[in-house]
Amino acid sequence: MNGHHALIKYTGVDMSESNPERQFTIGYQDGNMTQDTTLNYYEGNAKHYYDGTVNINMTVLYTPFLTYMPTYASILDAGCGSGRDALYFASRGYQVTAFDYSPTLVNLATKLTGQEVLNLSFQDLAFEDQFNGIWACSSLMHVPLDEMHDALFKLSRAIKVDGVMYASFIYGTGEHNRHGRLFVDLDEDGCGELIKLHPELAVIRCWKTSDLRPGRENEKWLNLLIRKARRSKRMTFLGVGQSPSPQ
Ligand SMILES: C[S@@+](CC[C@H](N)C(=O)[O-])C[C@H]1O[C@@H](n2cnc3c(N)ncnc32)[C@H](O)[C@@H]1O
Repeated sequence: MNGHHALIKYTGVDMSESNPERQFTIGYQDGNMTQDTTLNYYEGNAKHYYDGTVNINMTVLYTPFLTYMPTYASILDAGCGSGRDALYFASRGYQVTAFDYSPTLVNLATKLTGQEVLNLSFQDLAFEDQFNGIWACSSLMHVPLDEMHDALFKLSRAIKVDGVMYASFIYGTGEHNRHGRLFVDLDEDGCGELIKLHPELAVIRCWKTSDLRPGRENEKWLNLLIRKARRSKRMTFLGVGQSPSPQ
């Protein structure tokens, strides 16, 4: 930890329960990193990133998610990158909407899929009760820690009751700057902390896998399948604590 880190402590107010105030801490935030730092990385490396990810075989991750999708399900590919997964889902007959925050990746994904990909960020999402499934493959992890609950609320609001969301994070804890990209890492405990302020959501499955890219098998991922059991209610988040003394 260095002096730029601030300890983030959220107080969540769950409007749907009688004793609403619950506190939790899920990690440290790097004060130097913003969402735009991550965007600059993807804009500057878009073609390289596209070439390195467009052909990854993701079948082992599609299968558990698609088990929960009805025929012709509507799926939101959230932070779609190359468009690889949107293309796959569309080829299987699903109704796919895809978005990404990087305009260059949006153009590349539009070309790959042959359908318009939206230039949106998680923080912009205004869909309500629209999708049977949300696929957030290694993308939600780039939302800063202090915006994560709002992003999760907007994803939850976008999904229909009984819909299922897949999300993946690098296995670990806290917020990190990796070569100019912001990452929020998650382990099983962090997953519990993240979900517990969203009472409409329930974790169906939480499992660890190795990176699917050749040569990167030692990198571990946390995969989540989350069901929306009832309608989403807006929660408020109050309070940001101060950093511990610099080490
Ligand atoms: C590691 S890539 C994963 C791309 C794709 N889902 C995949 O699995 O290949 C992360 C993607 O998330 C996008 N992204 C990062 N922050 C975002 C945000 N706040 N809103 C939407 N997309 C974002 C990036 O532009 C990038 O395309």
